[in-house]
Amino acid sequence: MNQALNSKSIDPALGRSDQLVVLLEGIHPSAVEALRHGGYTRVVTHAKALVGIELRAALAEASFLGIRSRTQLTKEVLQQASQLAAIGCFCIGTNQVDLGAAMHMGIPVFNAPFSNTRSVAELVLAQIIMLMRGIPEKNAVLHRSGWVKSAENSYEVRGKTLGIVGYGHIGMQIGVLAEQLGMRVVFHDIETKLPLGNALEMAGLNELLKASDVVSLHVPETPRTANMVGVVQLALMKPGSHLINASRGTVVDIDALAAALESRHLHGAAIDVFPLEPQGNDSVFVSPLTRFDNVILTPHIGGSTSEAQVNIGREVAAKLIRYGNNGSTTSAVNFPEVALPEHAGRSRLLHIHKNVPGVLAHVNEKLSAAGINIAAQYLSTNADVGYVVIDVDHAATQSGLAELCTVPATIRCRILY
Ligand code: NAI
Repeated sequence: MNQALNSKSIDPALGRSDQLVVLLEGIHPSAVEALRHGGYTRVVTHAKALVGIELRAALAEASFLGIRSRTQLTKEVLQQASQLAAIGCFCIGTNQVDLGAAMHMGIPVFNAPFSNTRSVAELVLAQIIMLMRGIPEKNAVLHRSGWVKSAENSYEVRGKTLGIVGYGHIGMQIGVLAEQLGMRVVFHDIETKLPLGNALEMAGLNELLKASDVVSLHVPETPRTANMVGVVQLALMKPGSHLINASRGTVVDIDALAAALESRHLHGAAIDVFPLEPQGNDSVFVSPLTRFDNVILTPHIGGSTSEAQVNIGREVAAKLIRYGNNGSTTSAVNFPEVALPEHAGRSRLLHIHKNVPGVLAHVNEKLSAAGINIAAQYLSTNADVGYVVIDVDHAATQSGLAELCTVPATIRCRILY
């Protein structure tokens, strides 16, 4: 039984140009270009997501798969893809993939968390200026054939305070850009962060809310950030200030925000993400915010630019290539991470196993008993899976692989020449 399992788990020793890469959902051509450059010339692209038999057929021989958010990779689908070595999500989210099932099958999943950072930062910067000038309301009045020429509630951003909640990749970038416009930048984060420029860390969220003319949210969706801006926090914000949320819809209590806008405690808001977002472009958008002229509503497009699509294509392709050519799993979302040096002049054996005690000892005993010298070895584990990488002389490649695959708890073995 073990033998059968192990023989199934040996990946065919295909060269790069023989390995099939399948890209679904109209992934940007920058990915194809990068893959070809990385030696992967057998690339098949599909403009749309595939489902059912079509998806299974497309995956039957695929070594690498690229998807965006629509393709659902369930455990059952993955089980049909017997040669699949890695998955690239050419987007930010990865909840369309059964990450646990992929991990247990020895398949790392990669994504592109930071390729659209600049796009979000630029949009937020534009929103800050628009809100401080009261443009959304003025624009709406003109669309209804009105005319309100007034400087009331219209301010320069220079010298005003921007409060950034979540000083990560996006938050930091916005801080730098806002300072260039002459804004004072304060931030709050649960991690200790090095302030860029003259940004000032606040003692806590409440202090930031009280001090800011514009508050911009850039935190992830976690239990701790759920409704982190609600009735109490909105009341702490300065009268006449503005709120921007381009992070995740669950972070703001929308009814509380609507009440704060209704009472004119807040002068405006820009909201790109919502607790419940329509499934597609044919769906109807419903929100208590649609009635406010002083709210900029955008359909979760903070990171949606041509430049971001190009970057995402390149970033995820680079991660697939690095795993395919070198074995590195750095930034995989479901897998033990290993950053590996080059293995010039040697063969590299990859051994993915269940993380049970004694596997590494077993691996080394097997190779030692077969007289195979280990030139270099790297190991990383998570609670469920272990990933060991072993560099051996070319002459020992086949025998080394055969030995490795007889180790109990083996999930998968691969060779990189
Ligand atoms: P990041 O991971 O680089 O930064 C997030 C920061 O939030 C980290 O510094 C973290 O320590 C901090 N944080 C976490 N929990 C916190 C809490 N309870 N209080 C204060 N700080 C907290 O993430 P990045 O790339 O800057 O993205 C930020 C958000 O923007 C994410 O929610 C992401 O999903 C969203 N996003 C939205 C896009 C859009 O199209 N609107 C596009 C890209 C990202």
